[in-house]
Amino acid sequence: MIVVKSEEEIARMREPCAIVRDCLAHVGERIAAGMTTREVDALVEQFIRAHGAIPSCLGYGGFPASACVSVNEVVVHGIPGDRVLREGDIVSVDLCAYKNGFHGDGARTFRIGKVSAEKDKLVRVTEECFFAGIEGLRAGTPLNDIGSRVQKHAEENGFSVIRAYTGHGIGREMHEDPAVPNFGRQGTGMRLPAGAVICVEPMIAAGKWRVEVLPDGWTAVMADGRPAAHYENTLVVREDGVEILTL
Ligand code: MF3
Ligand code: CO
Repeated sequence: MIVVKSEEEIARMREPCAIVRDCLAHVGERIAAGMTTREVDALVEQFIRAHGAIPSCLGYGGFPASACVSVNEVVVHGIPGDRVLREGDIVSVDLCAYKNGFHGDGARTFRIGKVSAEKDKLVRVTEECFFAGIEGLRAGTPLNDIGSRVQKHAEENGFSVIRAYTGHGIGREMHEDPAVPNFGRQGTGMRLPAGAVICVEPMIAAGKWRVEVLPDGWTAVMADGRPAAHYENTLVVREDGVEILTL
């Protein structure tokens, strides 16, 4: 059941969402070749705690870190560790902060130095998919209009949309109803009410959409080994449009 937020609750969500936004920018300014994914996670944890928030991912379902750090063919839920970032990698960093009784959630994919033309386009198109997905979004929009627009933009660019993971509602819980797929048919699904707070998070693959989870139970890799990218924001559905809280 979707939990609609009051203006007072939305006001309380602004702070954790702003911390997510600023933390992603903080990471973007520092991430570089030679760093390990564990060092990226440490940046995230320190930033979130320094701002009086709690990293929601740490311990969530047993996840062992504050950020998901996913390199190249890892699409989401990469566990930070000893992997060293190299020039030419693309790295998605996905993080959540909890403060004021609410969560904020966002992700960006960063380029490490100069990347291939294919990876460069993939990162750009994945961001574009987010904005395509929310185009025209307002109270009363059918849920699957989002996924339909994301899918159209990805496939028009020769990429594919991950099916195994979706966006989601967010609030007092990190994952609330509804699931927000990145694919689907225009005009179908629930009509989103004003005050719904959702995470729209296109996960887009350069190759085929099939994903495998490694034996660690988390790391989601593209079955064909080709790169994937991720971009996510938390937003409020309004009568006349959306308010993006993590931008
Ligand atoms: N932040 C992710 C999302 O976009 C969830 C991460 S799973 C966790 O929904 F276990 F790392 F928390
Ligand atoms: Co999310």
